[in-house]
Amino acid sequence: MNIAIIGSGYVGLVTGVCLAHIGHHVVCVDNDREKIKKLNAGKVPIYEPGLEEMILKYRRMKRLVFSGAIAVAVKKADVIFIAVGTPSKHNGDADLTYIENVAAEIARHMDGYKLLVEKSTVPAQTGNRIERTVRLNLSSKKGKPGHPAVEFDVASNPEFLREGSAIEDFMNPDRIVIGVESARAEKLLREVYKPLKARIVVTNLASAEMIKHAANSFLAAKISFINAVAQVCDRVGADVLKVAEGMGYDKRIGRAFLNAGIGYGGSCFPKDVDAFIRLADKSGYDFRLLKSVREVNEQQKASFIHLVEDKLWIIKGKTIAVWGLAFKANTDDMRRAASLDIIRVLQAEGARVQAYDPKAMLNARHELKNVKFCADAYAAVKAADCLLVLTEWDEFLKIDLVKVRGLMRQPVVFDGRNFFDKKVFTDHGFEYYGIGRGDVAQNTTGVMCAKK
Ligand code: UGA
Repeated sequence: MNIAIIGSGYVGLVTGVCLAHIGHHVVCVDNDREKIKKLNAGKVPIYEPGLEEMILKYRRMKRLVFSGAIAVAVKKADVIFIAVGTPSKHNGDADLTYIENVAAEIARHMDGYKLLVEKSTVPAQTGNRIERTVRLNLSSKKGKPGHPAVEFDVASNPEFLREGSAIEDFMNPDRIVIGVESARAEKLLREVYKPLKARIVVTNLASAEMIKHAANSFLAAKISFINAVAQVCDRVGADVLKVAEGMGYDKRIGRAFLNAGIGYGGSCFPKDVDAFIRLADKSGYDFRLLKSVREVNEQQKASFIHLVEDKLWIIKGKTIAVWGLAFKANTDDMRRAASLDIIRVLQAEGARVQAYDPKAMLNARHELKNVKFCADAYAAVKAADCLLVLTEWDEFLKIDLVKVRGLMRQPVVFDGRNFFDKKVFTDHGFEYYGIGRGDVAQNTTGVMCAKK
């Protein structure tokens, strides 16, 4: 099939490449000419495992094209995916300006039946608004004498890709959700995804949009739940890793997304939780449960900072090493990364920060001032008074802890991801603090530490 993807950001690129992989002819469009130029020169603007190789392969096979020309792409395509950004406004609402612009522009270039598919994460009922925008922008000339009527459908096909494993997620989805209002749209979308042989959930537009809201918010809630449990674990001497394991074997619960840490970040959960709260508010429902999810997530960072403050005693003038900056491993994405808030607070208190991340330092440089970005994990710990592990990169597991111990001024580690085996660090003479491991209930003076 001929497919156009409008918006070559993270979702657009991964979707485009994967659709080319399963046999379609894809054009990825973006109005950022510089980005298109780079993509055509084989330069991929984001880090995602496997993406660059696939882009090169399918460009060579001429199944994947990058273009700034939306008109040509729309005319040629049977199915048009809209994958433009939907950033948060100050009040938490999703800003749908790009969606509206793109819908109007597509309408202006449509000359035959098209299926428009919303792929960006959008509030429920956006599909209806896209339909109306297209209709209004068509009616100015199409369907009038001399202009054939143009039929179209709008569908919702939310994505459930995780950064860092997006290609794998696309190829092996738990399910594909298709929100449609016509049999024709359903048939076309089933055709698009036929090669994947995946389970397909067909529903109407509004329910498909709601599935995306509900799924992301539920996952965020799961993380906040285990983070709240971790807080209690610390106070009563329980180990959240064991608690999560014990809970996770229950099939009704499952072990996934029960990793306690410094809270969720990224371009999706914080924004999507905000947007769902706003949507519910506007519909007349006070979604207090989700408001607490958001609150717990913020508290989690604050409580990690308090732990560092408590154990380090004096922050001013201390050198703090940071391993990992990205909002999670296997990505260079720094959007809403917990590391940003943590580092800024400690800097404001007078700490010197020296950091290393395998992929995200280029992006981090735009966000963080006065951080010494280091060439490797060893350089980051040199003469440091403590080490914060903020992203769970596999390469940290291979590090020589004897060497690290020798380089650091004080052997104190705060593992914000419960990534390391505590014993490995303590055996090397480190003081180790994880999240909810039951080991911070007492402060260094032996008194129960009520965290602020
Ligand atoms: C998330 C969803 O997992 C995808 O299904 C969805 O498609 C995507 O949002 C989206 O809406 O586009 P993503 O943000 O890439 O994907 O990353 P996740 O793996 O979900 O992690 C999100 C955040 O939660 C990260 O900061 C991660 O460190 C944190 N997290 C995750 C935890 O703190 N604990 C966990 O147990 C799991």
